Amino acid sequence: MSGEPRRLLPSPTERLVFREMTEDDLDRMAALLGDPEVMAFYPAPKTRAESAEWIARMQESYREHGHGLWIIETHDADFVGDCGLTWQSANGVPVLEVGYHVRREMQRRGYATEAARACVELAAREFAPTLLTAIIHPANDASRGVAENLGMSHVGDDHAHPWIVRTVMGMQVPPA
Ligand SMILES: CC(C)(COP(=O)(O)OP(=O)(O)OC[C@H]1O[C@@H](n2cnc3c(N)ncnc32)[C@H](O)[C@@H]1OP(=O)(O)O)[C@@H](O)C(=O)NCCC(=O)NCCS
Repeated sequence: MSGEPRRLLPSPTERLVFREMTEDDLDRMAALLGDPEVMAFYPAPKTRAESAEWIARMQESYREHGHGLWIIETHDADFVGDCGLTWQSANGVPVLEVGYHVRREMQRRGYATEAARACVELAAREFAPTLLTAIIHPANDASRGVAENLGMSHVGDDHAHPWIVRTVMGMQVPPA
């Protein structure tokens, strides 16, 4: 027995499937996280080496928690981005967060909302009742739009971040 948690995965949606990230995704993830528009609300776009670290962190999260950000792709295996559930900290308190990044050419087609809804359903099956959050740069309207589509509302502000006050969107997820 390894003692590692059961590996979770959201159910496929009408247009998307989820899978764990591997080293083979480095080209795709480096293109996504290296795009200055996709990373506009991060300190800087990620280098290829930082994208490799991102993948390694997600693999560590799968092993430690059973979940993380997963690759989202179409049923034809076209890369869309990543989306998933991670543990984050808001004002020093651990919270479950749904996160998402969609490559520029695929944005504004409802993919982030569709993928995030599958993550809410997973949270309802595995973690409910729970608070589910999306911790967002205050100027990130697209991210806030996804959170609002999920039914989240502004539940507070995170003052623990070194240089910005982040908006904490959240919703109570009842058991499925
Ligand atoms: C946030 C992000 C994942 C949204 O992906 P998406 O697939 O385009 O999102 P959706 O098509 O599901 O849009 C969801 C809602 O967001 C809003 N929205 C999306 N793009 C927007 C934009 N550029 N400006 C303003 N609002 C926007 C809309 O309200 C939209 O809902 P509607 O189409 O029903 O009106 C994408 O913009 C992205 O990858 N951004 C960079 C990465 C990032 O900031 N991630 C979040 C970190 S907290």
